[in-house]
Amino acid sequence: MDVILVNTGLAQVEADALAVIAFERTEGATAVSGESAAAVDAICGGWISETLASGEFSGKLLEQAVLARPTGLKAKKLIAVGGGKAEKFTATEMRKAAAAVLRAWKPKKCAKIALAFDVAFQNEEMAAAATEGALLGDYEPDTYKTDPKKNDSKVESFALVSSEGDAAVAGVTRGRILAEAQNFTRTLVNEPGNRLTPTILAERARTMAQEFGLGCDILSADRMKQLGMGSLLGVAMGSAEPPVTIVLTYTPAEGSATTHLGLIGKGVTFDTGGISIKPSDGMEKMKYDMAGGAAAIGAMRAIAQLKPKVPVTAVIPSVENMPGSRAMRPGDIVTTLNGKTVEVLNTDAEGRLILCDALEYAQRLGCTHMVDAATLTGAIVVALGYVNIGCFSNNDEFRDQVLSAAKTEGEKMWPMPLDEEYKDLLKSPIADLANIGGRWGGAISAAKFLEEFSGGKPWVHLDIAGTAWLEEGKPFLSKGPSGVCVRTFVRLAMGL
Ligand code: BES
Ligand code: MN
Ligand code: ZN
Repeated sequence: MDVILVNTGLAQVEADALAVIAFERTEGATAVSGESAAAVDAICGGWISETLASGEFSGKLLEQAVLARPTGLKAKKLIAVGGGKAEKFTATEMRKAAAAVLRAWKPKKCAKIALAFDVAFQNEEMAAAATEGALLGDYEPDTYKTDPKKNDSKVESFALVSSEGDAAVAGVTRGRILAEAQNFTRTLVNEPGNRLTPTILAERARTMAQEFGLGCDILSADRMKQLGMGSLLGVAMGSAEPPVTIVLTYTPAEGSATTHLGLIGKGVTFDTGGISIKPSDGMEKMKYDMAGGAAAIGAMRAIAQLKPKVPVTAVIPSVENMPGSRAMRPGDIVTTLNGKTVEVLNTDAEGRLILCDALEYAQRLGCTHMVDAATLTGAIVVALGYVNIGCFSNNDEFRDQVLSAAKTEGEKMWPMPLDEEYKDLLKSPIADLANIGGRWGGAISAAKFLEEFSGGKPWVHLDIAGTAWLEEGKPFLSKGPSGVCVRTFVRLAMGL
């Protein structure tokens, strides 16, 4: 799908559907709120005013009303899309509105969709957000459907109308880079365990790195053995699929930065739980246990093109967690890359066992600041539901940078505690650490475990178990893989 800039008057736009954003009206107001909405209202004999007056349409965010064959317009349909409260309309609302329009009209054979751009939206952020919305909305998780009819309702172009100039051009370019990166991540996350093993994930990352000019190093099991990644290798023991650690590097042209960002992502291509096996009900969903790793890979795809000032290294430990005959047993002791020993009390707490080695390795590669993303615990879903990512950190300043990047990108995150007291949960009588805490505060004890491997450097852990997969579709996003964290990672890198 093309996203294009069109600079004609609204009446001249040739499209199957032309959408204008109309805002909720304040108490007592009678005028249509929204520049383009008011303009088409005048052309079309007051249709929007009428729908607002009748209560058929209120301007609530993402609400839509449609007028077929609007008089005075070349477009075949006029769509009024609710923008919510005008003063609260930011890039986040724009992204959702553009996506909701696309998703509503794509199945109805609208090949050409246009969205009117008010003067108020004429900036890079808004153009980027609309572009992202359209492209993210266009994604469907139907990779393996063979019905050729699927292509019947393809959108050819999504036009931003009356938007021109350098800012809009730059916005569309950036929006496309980000959305394509996020959709790349979603495609990886959507792959089932048999179609995406650690080896295949590494191949996909390598191909992407070659295409976009990133450094790429794939650590084999042998190299990881030499290095001493005993914890990661322990998790991999139960599977016939060999583990890998994927390393992607971006180096800026001018090399004077003192900050070196590390993006670490959990890459468990399938999590059965291992010997501490999971119940079969819903186990199929554990194909998304590599969503953090896929987010780091997707972010690097955008970073390679947007070229931040700081070096960025992604480290993705990737394994399959299986209960094979060589599998790690409950009670086994593993030695991590940084030398600490761990008593594995539950083989289903495998994410932390691979991330701890990756965090240490990222530091050996020179990372000064680290952010990890992981579908780490069911407990974060208990705490925050499917709405917020859990955000843990050992450094308030760095955490606030991550939270602010996330807020700008409309990726919801909530700060979680890491008090010293929680460390007691991880006591083991035989080793330095146990790999599980007790029954309560499970997301926190998992994060506390990771903190032990941060080397005291600024580090943020993002638990995305509740947010990486949408159980229900939204008007602006299909159900399935969300690609969450990609935009936050990129925004963070660009801001350092
Ligand atoms: N991958 C799971 C966490 C998970 C749960 C992700 C639900 C997405 C949805 C992780 O490896 C796991 O199994 N965690 C255990 C930890 C427990 C054994 C301490 C959990 O959350 O139950
Ligand atoms: Mn597990
Ligand atoms: Zn897992």
